[in-house]
Amino acid sequence: MIQESTVEPELAFTGRNETFMKTCVYPGSFDPVTNGHMDIIKRSAKMFDKVIVAVVKNYSKKPLFSFSERMELIQKSVKDIPNVEVESFEGLLMDYVHKKNAQVIVKGLRAISDFEYEFQMALMNRKLDPNVETIFLMTNHKYSFLSSSMVKEVASLGGCISGLVPDCIIRDIYRKLKQKD
Ligand code: PNS
Repeated sequence: MIQESTVEPELAFTGRNETFMKTCVYPGSFDPVTNGHMDIIKRSAKMFDKVIVAVVKNYSKKPLFSFSERMELIQKSVKDIPNVEVESFEGLLMDYVHKKNAQVIVKGLRAISDFEYEFQMALMNRKLDPNVETIFLMTNHKYSFLSSSMVKEVASLGGCISGLVPDCIIRDIYRKLKQKD
């Protein structure tokens, strides 16, 4: 016969006798945010009390949008999701995760081709702190082909990006590309 557990469910989950607010960090370059990113943000917001979308400042590739513009585009896109915050970070992701008292790093996986690099980063982050888990959310199949680079390429060549990025930022993307020319 199975005995009923006397441990409160939330304590059974954490194993710690403390109030446990589950916070995750979703880091990335978001140059710009796409509907693939939005899918990961919305699904994370259902699983965690707080989702911090963390825009990397020291980005090695040359971004189209400045880091403050990248943040603004995300802020516009997530304004109706109450438990999502948009911030920036520089330096080690793990230092930022500690600063925010987060327990989990969320990453999206689109295809096998993403896996090797993501696996390497997840293992490096686990080496830096084994108590912080990286979890991967499989992309919605609708967005498995989608990347920020593709969006920029299609838009720069005059193609339609509707359905690929949040509607509220479409004009900003075309405007930025026009300024660049
Ligand atoms: O959107 P991207 O380009 O895949 O994001 C990559 C990002 C920002 C998540 C990654 O480059 C990162 O974590 N940078 C911070 C530097 C760091 O902590 N490096 C050590 C762990 S691999």
